[in-house]
Amino acid sequence: MRRRALLARDSAAFLHQSVSTPCLSAIRKAEGLFIEDVAGRRYMDFHGNNVHHVGYAHPHVVGAIKAQLDALSFAPRRFASERAVELAEALAAQFRRLTGAPGRVLFTTGGTDAVEVAIKLARAATGRFKTLSFWDSFHGAGLGASSVGGEALFRSGRIGPLLPGSEHVAPFGCYRCAYGHPVDAHGEPDLERCRLACAAMVRYVLEREGDVAAVIAEPARAVPYVPPPGYWRAVREACSAHGTLLVFDEIPTGLGKTGRFFAAEHDGAAPDIVVLGKALGGGILPIAACIARDELNVAGDYAFGHYTHEKNPVTAAAALATLEVIEREGLVENAARVGAHALGRLHELKRRHALVGDVRGRGLLLGLELVSDRAAKRPAGDAAERVLYRALSRGLSFKTTMGNVLTLTPPLIVTREQMDAALDILDACLAEETTAA
Ligand SMILES: Cc1ncc(COP(=O)(O)O)c(C=O)c1O
Repeated sequence: MRRRALLARDSAAFLHQSVSTPCLSAIRKAEGLFIEDVAGRRYMDFHGNNVHHVGYAHPHVVGAIKAQLDALSFAPRRFASERAVELAEALAAQFRRLTGAPGRVLFTTGGTDAVEVAIKLARAATGRFKTLSFWDSFHGAGLGASSVGGEALFRSGRIGPLLPGSEHVAPFGCYRCAYGHPVDAHGEPDLERCRLACAAMVRYVLEREGDVAAVIAEPARAVPYVPPPGYWRAVREACSAHGTLLVFDEIPTGLGKTGRFFAAEHDGAAPDIVVLGKALGGGILPIAACIARDELNVAGDYAFGHYTHEKNPVTAAAALATLEVIEREGLVENAARVGAHALGRLHELKRRHALVGDVRGRGLLLGLELVSDRAAKRPAGDAAERVLYRALSRGLSFKTTMGNVLTLTPPLIVTREQMDAALDILDACLAEETTAA
């Protein structure tokens, strides 16, 4: 009753928009791996919008925020704030580890704004305005971010023309290769045959256009799809050859999700700009960052990332505490370890359930693609929806992407036992779906 009343008030109070309002349920508690709805039902949160890397309400992050509120709660413009400087230095150090190059940082309140900063910086640094990004990608809801994004939901004709020069290309995604190349029985691409047609197309477009400011993409796609070996090295070379900057949007994948601090570390390609967000605020406060090579510090006479909370000491303290937890608790290593175990078990589910057409992922970014016919790869969207609701009724929450991909993105604190419990639920739900069919 309380739940229904709250949902009705929510629906009356907020502007309605797709996949957001109206809501499905109402929450009263979030702690560690778990969320609890207003009826007291607990769920393992294997979605968490990718903000809950350190678990919800981690005591170290909560403590750091409380202490910072007492010490200094805001930094007005043009006043340096020690916490913000410390955070910028810590992220620049990570950027240097990734790229070998010194970096500089700008903070924003949300991921979409950090993407806008990256686009503006790439334009200012190159004197060009075009971008190249992936169809089916999401980079945020701002006008610039929607322009580089490739999902129809965010590019509706109702919002009018998007940014000119926002070019798109079909992304990597071997199971459903846009260039028609098949995968082998293990879901692996035959690189000798396909010769990385997806990367070759990026090079082709950069060459034809000749004046693209930046390639903007997630190094590992949220669907989830990991890049075929050599993809990002080939794209990096193409970018360098054509004076185009490479921008990695690591908003969901950064800070250890894939078993490395940056997802890009798996692929041996150094970006010029990296964007982080989501989990950076410890799953509590909103903060995102655009980190760029020092030599891109070329727009000092122009206010291209002028955000009110740019140097907020409280959000910075939350982020610093988050980085400390990730380091102290060995969460990147845990993501790699538990993720590898989970991937093995998911492959085993594929062997037993004909409904599973493909298994993929890296670290704790994992997916099972459901199909009603393995040979034809016919998407089983209805089955995916039923499996999702069955799992929810057994205490496991996750989301589907592209309609038929069960996407599992638990926090980095998840233990092997919790992962096994979640996969047992999934196993049972898949079995029920097969029996019911
Ligand atoms: C890849 C990617 N980029 C950007 C964003 C936008 O971040 P925010 O919602 O904080 O604006 C998201 C959010 O889901 C994302 O997944």
